[in-house]
Amino acid sequence: MLKPSNRTEARLLEQLDLERLPRHVAIIMDGNGRWAGRRHLPRVAGHRAGVQAARRIIESSARLGIEALTLYAFSVENWRRPHAEVDFLMRLLREYLHKELPVIHKNNIRLIVIGRGSQLPTEVRHDLDEAMKLTGANTGMKLVVALNYGGRAELVDAFNAILRSAEQSGGPLPTVDEQMISDHLYTAGLPDPDLLVRTSGEMRVSNFLLWQIAYAEIYVTETLWPDFQVASLIEALIEFQKRERRYGGLGPGRRSSKGQAAS
Ligand code: FPP
Repeated sequence: MLKPSNRTEARLLEQLDLERLPRHVAIIMDGNGRWAGRRHLPRVAGHRAGVQAARRIIESSARLGIEALTLYAFSVENWRRPHAEVDFLMRLLREYLHKELPVIHKNNIRLIVIGRGSQLPTEVRHDLDEAMKLTGANTGMKLVVALNYGGRAELVDAFNAILRSAEQSGGPLPTVDEQMISDHLYTAGLPDPDLLVRTSGEMRVSNFLLWQIAYAEIYVTETLWPDFQVASLIEALIEFQKRERRYGGLGPGRRSSKGQAAS
């Protein structure tokens, strides 16, 4: 249960229907660099503030009862950033794990990391593996951290995994269907995101969960990630609840007399 920590949160929580929360929220955390730039601080200061935002959103999502939260922490394209910044982000991640893992575990949160893990620095991989082992049996919120993640890379890996298992089985090539692809993605077993949040106003999906967001509601806010508060999360959830989800069909009370497909 999320207890409001100020009047804004209390007012917003009153508008939120806890019975109709999205099962899976995915977030593109953008704007750390701009946040720092506006304060004449180095970019890394923005990333530090970004970690604080991640902490509060993880904790409040778990308290709200959200089943899965996926955070886009490092993309396959992010290696193109200056070496010092990449290095800092990797160190920051390890620091975050050392500090926060006990809290994550105590809150019954299960950590899942998705992406091409084999290309991460050995010590980062080691810490992530330990954290996933420690929290593997937790039954609360699934915290999915996308690291060295790319949506196209994920699809490539899924198709290759399908081909490999077909080869190993020695039988005829299988007929691929949607379920088979979903089952070979890094996110196999997780519900698809119902809500995709992007901070800092950019209208792009940036190679994030390309297959899984097919029917997600997209919520873009101008707020920069380090400024994203618990109240900002509740606002996104309220907006989600106002949307009518049709999955390409006809919504309630909107039957077409000619039986045409809805847009
Ligand atoms: C975007 O800001 C953010 C990232 C590159 C990801 C880094 C995320 C964090 C440090 C949050 C921590 C997450 C966890 C799971 C502990 P940007 O640098 O692209 O901002 P800009 O577009 O304003 O330059």
